[in-house]
Parts: sequence; C-alpha cells; structure tokens
Amino acid sequence: MDAAAWSPTSWREYPAAQQPEWPDDGELQRVLKHMEDLPPLVFAGEARDLTAELGEVAEGRAFLLQAGDCAEAFDTFTADSVRDRLRVILQMAVVLTYSSGLPTVKIGRIAGQFAKPRSAPTERVGELDLASFRGHMVNDVGGTAEARLADPQRLLRAYHQSSATLNLLRSFTKGGFADLTRVHSWNQAFVRSSREGRRYEQVADEIDRALRFMKACGVDTRSQPMLHETNFFTSHEALILGYEEALTRRDALTGDWYDSSAHLVWIGERTRQAAGAHMEFFAGIRNPVGCKLGPTATPDEVVTICQRLNPDRVPGRLTLIARMGAERVATALPPLLGAVADAGHPVVWACDPMHGNTFTSAGGRKTRRFDDILREIAGFFAAHEAVGTWPGGVHVELTSDDVTECLGGAEEILDADLASRYETMCDPRLNGRQSLDLAFRVAELLRR
Ligand code: TRP
Ligand code: MN
Repeated sequence: MDAAAWSPTSWREYPAAQQPEWPDDGELQRVLKHMEDLPPLVFAGEARDLTAELGEVAEGRAFLLQAGDCAEAFDTFTADSVRDRLRVILQMAVVLTYSSGLPTVKIGRIAGQFAKPRSAPTERVGELDLASFRGHMVNDVGGTAEARLADPQRLLRAYHQSSATLNLLRSFTKGGFADLTRVHSWNQAFVRSSREGRRYEQVADEIDRALRFMKACGVDTRSQPMLHETNFFTSHEALILGYEEALTRRDALTGDWYDSSAHLVWIGERTRQAAGAHMEFFAGIRNPVGCKLGPTATPDEVVTICQRLNPDRVPGRLTLIARMGAERVATALPPLLGAVADAGHPVVWACDPMHGNTFTSAGGRKTRRFDDILREIAGFFAAHEAVGTWPGGVHVELTSDDVTECLGGAEEILDADLASRYETMCDPRLNGRQSLDLAFRVAELLRR
C-alpha cells in the first residue's frame, strides 16, 4: 500500500475474494450509504486499549483467549444466549489467569461474526444446487433459492444485532456479572456435575479464599474495579468489505482510520492474498488485526504479511492465528515462527486448533475430535518451546450449550451421539464442558 493513497475505499481497486453477488446493486449502495451515517459500534480508544493488551501478549507477559461462535445467527439471538457465551469465556479466562498467574486478554468472536467464506459459490442441498450459505449477514441457510439470495438489508440487521450484543456485553462486563466475587455463578448446572465442573468449583473456592484473605489483610477489595470488572473485546472475520468500509471512521483524536465494526478484525485463510482487496483494506485501518495461516503458508509469505500489516512493528497490532491441523503443526509451524522472529517482527502467535481438524464423520456430520484439538494445541506449545517464541494464545469455536458437535471430551461424545444435539449452522463447536476442559489443559501447558 502507498500510505498516502490509502482510503477506506481503496480496496475496490484490487480483486476481492469471497464477495457475494448482490442481485440489486442499487439497494446495496443505498444500505451502505445509510450505514456510513450510523454510530460506530466500537471506539478508537478501545481499539488502542486492545492493541496495548495484545502488546503484552506479543512480549510474553500475557495470554490471549479468543473464543465464540463459528457464525452468529439472527434467529437464535437472545439476551440469555449472549450471557451464556460470555460466561463460558469468563470461566475459561479465570481458569487461565488463576493457574498461569498471567493476565488473560479476552476477545469474543461475537457482535459481528456473521459472514462465512465458502469453498465453492454453490452447494448441493438435497436435490438442488443452491448459492452457498455465506452467513446471516448475506443470506439465509434455508434450502431454497429464495433463501439463498443475498439481501443487503441483512447488513443492517447484522449492524443492529451487533450493537445490541455489544450493549449487553458492556453491561455484563462492567456492571457486576463479571465480578470475581461471582465466579461460582458462571458454572452452569449441566457443567457443575461433570469432572471439569467440579475442578472449576475448586478454583472458584480458592479465588473466594484469596479475596477473603486480601480483605482480612486490610485491602479494601470493594474499591478495586479490577476485581469487579473486566475488559472484553469483540472480533470477527472482516469478509464483506462493503460493510467494513461503511463502518470505517477517522478518529478525531489522532486522525487515523479505524474500522468501528469491532475492536479486532481478522483476515481469513481464503482472503489473505498479498495483492488482494482484503490485505489492502487491513493495511490502512489502525485496529489490532489478525491473519489466519494454514499449513500451506510459506515463511516468505508470512514475513510479507508482517511487513504489509505492521510496517511500524507495533507490538499488539498483528496477531497471527495458525490453523495447521494436529498432524501438520509440528512440521508446518516452526519455520514460520523462526522466519518471523528472524525478521524481528513482534507478533502475537495464536493457535486455532479447530479449522485444521474438521472432517465428515461416518454418520455424515461435519465434526472435530476433541483429542485432535488438544493435540494441535500441544504441538503449538512444543513448536514455540523449540523455537524459543511465546505461545501467545488460543482461538476457539464454542458455545455454552450442551451440544454434541465435537467428538470425545471427558464425557465422551461418540459418532452416534452427534445427531442428538447437533445445532450448529456452520462448524462444529466445543460445548460448555469441553471448553472448560480445554482451558484446564491449556493452563497446564502454560504452567510448564
Ligand atoms: N480485571 C481482571 C481481568 O480482567 C480480573 C477479573 C475480573 C477477571 N473479572 C474477571 C478475570 C473475569 C477473568 C474473568 O483479568
Ligand atoms: Mn468456523
């Protein structure tokens, strides 16, 4: 990018992968124009706070937990669903923070995660070849041609749902729900009875005890906001560039451009081409940004991405999210870690142990094995240990619900069980118990 030539619209000069075909361009333009006048969803100062927190991760003094839905849905949006997703993430964060003794940076895949890249423009649904489902920001998952039409009004609906979600997240994290005196209340009934649920109760008891101890020592714990509130940031894959452009605003304080659709946005594995529109758009916004890296990423490519997205080498600006697969992480990751370290680029390295481990089960469902997920995380930690870099964090797809989408876990889910509560519209997610279990395992790796 030529910095002087960058603008929120300059991506339009480059090939943009994975963009929907909108049947009515006039309507699309009207919607986007309207969105340009809508209030920002997040503020530049908050994005800068996240860069600073991620800077601590880049320097090995904190850990990143990025978690949430594969894709958010319009039709299952309720206050309870937001609260429940937040509460599993808080539970995981408390386990990680307590057992590692390091701050945990908390980012949700939430309040904007409505668009999905697809491997083909059409898909077979029953007897029909239909336009692929691209997330509720674009079309509907229903099995008719009508449902699959890209509808610009969905961009607006995604904006408004994100706004309502953020409103709840802000109240929950600043208004008492995330208070450390309430750690017990984050354990849901169906989790409490499980092994990891009981283990969590022990951690929660110890935190209670630590708080009572501090109070007995004369620390006025009530007046310490850091015990009662937490910073919780939002993120999504910035796929539909018209939407992101319409929400990009110049910060009055610094004159810099920020994408106000989320605190952090990431580029997917399918849209990270060096000469592509997504790269151009991401190069000019000042938010902290992420980039997914699959097993085919080469060291040169990754260093080029670092130079393009973080030429000033600001720690916390760039998070590289490796999604290699359990089998390939040990060979594919170390060369990338080495190349980035040799180039002197400060990055956060996060492990996405989900997307490289998806397969179709004998019973015909898209699933992931909990064991593969853990193996990829272990391989990620081992690679960092070998190269001498910091395993900065994990990026996972989860739900608080008692779903049966991923195989295995402490309460073993078998192929035959997948059908019983398989609710995802997109990729298979960890359920509440598997998520907590994963947090304990990651905490163990961090303690070593
Ligand atoms: N403010 C601290 C933090 O965010 C401690 C804290 C408060 C916390 N509520 C939390 C930690 C909930 C994890 C989960 O780290
Ligand atoms: Mn996914």
